[in-house]
Amino acid sequence: MASEKNTLMDWIKSKTRRAEKDNGRLSAREMAKIARENRRITREFERQRNRKNVPESEYVTQMNDPRNVVEFDILHTYFFTDIGTVKAVDGVSFEIPEGKTVGVVGESGCGKSVTSLSLMQLLPRPQGQIVKGSIRLNTGHKIYDIAKTPSKVMETIRGSAVAMIFQEPMTSLNPVFRVGDQIEEVIRHHLVGLSDEQIKKMTIEMIDRVGIANSEGVYSMFPHELSGGMRQRIMIAMALVCSPMLIIADEPTTDLEVTIQAQILDLLRNLKDKINTSIMLIPHDLGVIADMADYVVVMYAGRIVEKGTVSEVFHNPLHPYTVGLMASKPVINRSVDRLYSIPGNVPNPIKMPNYCYFKDRCERRMAVCNGEYPREVYVTDTHMVTCYHYINAQKDK
Ligand SMILES: Nc1ncnc2c1ncn2[C@@H]1O[C@H](COP(=O)(O)OP(=O)(O)O)[C@@H](O)[C@H]1O
Ligand SMILES: [Mg+2]
Repeated sequence: MASEKNTLMDWIKSKTRRAEKDNGRLSAREMAKIARENRRITREFERQRNRKNVPESEYVTQMNDPRNVVEFDILHTYFFTDIGTVKAVDGVSFEIPEGKTVGVVGESGCGKSVTSLSLMQLLPRPQGQIVKGSIRLNTGHKIYDIAKTPSKVMETIRGSAVAMIFQEPMTSLNPVFRVGDQIEEVIRHHLVGLSDEQIKKMTIEMIDRVGIANSEGVYSMFPHELSGGMRQRIMIAMALVCSPMLIIADEPTTDLEVTIQAQILDLLRNLKDKINTSIMLIPHDLGVIADMADYVVVMYAGRIVEKGTVSEVFHNPLHPYTVGLMASKPVINRSVDRLYSIPGNVPNPIKMPNYCYFKDRCERRMAVCNGEYPREVYVTDTHMVTCYHYINAQKDK
């Protein structure tokens, strides 16, 4: 009797498991197994990262080209989740030259923010980990491979050599401290040996420089007393106060009204020229790129599908995905009933196909596109595309 009951239970279990599989869902047991495996993997990454007294030789390095501030080199950043590994950034390489602005574009979810968070070492850990590749950052004194730099050392780099302007200033400004104190804290953390008067003077000057008229008054205000545009200016002041080599601006104007957006971008551009910093710009509106950026990187599903100078990518977009993105860009003075959007969906980040990730949405797909993921093709020294249409037109780099 007991054995009959067991077989019945087994039968029911196997049926449910099959039903879950057919739905593409994982059973509880499979998820537990993945979670166990993830814990093992992420624990090892964390152990490596939290080691004490790591010799500098492990993470201080050289630039491939000394004219660059940042070099992403085959960066892989994954999230180890209970339903599988999300390959959010899957082999991304590009550089940010000194004093230049590089725009990173692509649909939502393609890995832009994860790329920038990897550079800041601000990934949500332990799930999010850089699993392969390097991010070389020139801080002006030394060159660090951020992928290997210990967290303690990163604290001295973040905010001084590289700073970030986030989308929503209210989440980054502390509501209970006056804005002046918050800017001063950044200076105190990174620049030693300054007197309180010097720090206050620097802070008020910085508030002035980001175009706030009543700088002394604003110095002692709380974030909630400021408008959205003013708060974003304070964020920029905080980012620039230590004259970073690089500023990352991840959709910095998304929540602002259109005229304020234009003002903030103008401000960023002017300040950039004055302090000769580089910018990694992730715009929420492609129109901004042509005005602001020198180079463009187009990402799709965790990989770069095209990169080049702004004029190369804008005037001569090659990848069908870039062409689609351009078509969906709103143009001033041209009224359209509905913006074009690229048909189809981004592939499931846990189960990426082994052919070109864009193929299933591509209007120009050919038989050869069923083959392996297309390799990089340089059509000029700077213009790169990964698409079978250009493989024969390659100019060897
Ligand atoms: N904390 C997280 N856990 C799991 N997956 C994440 C997490 N953060 C981001 N991702 C995934 O990483 C991919 C890239 O996200 P993101 O870089 O934020 O895209 P975007 O280009 O819009 O900035 C997406 O598939 C997203 O779902
Ligand atoms: Mg993002």
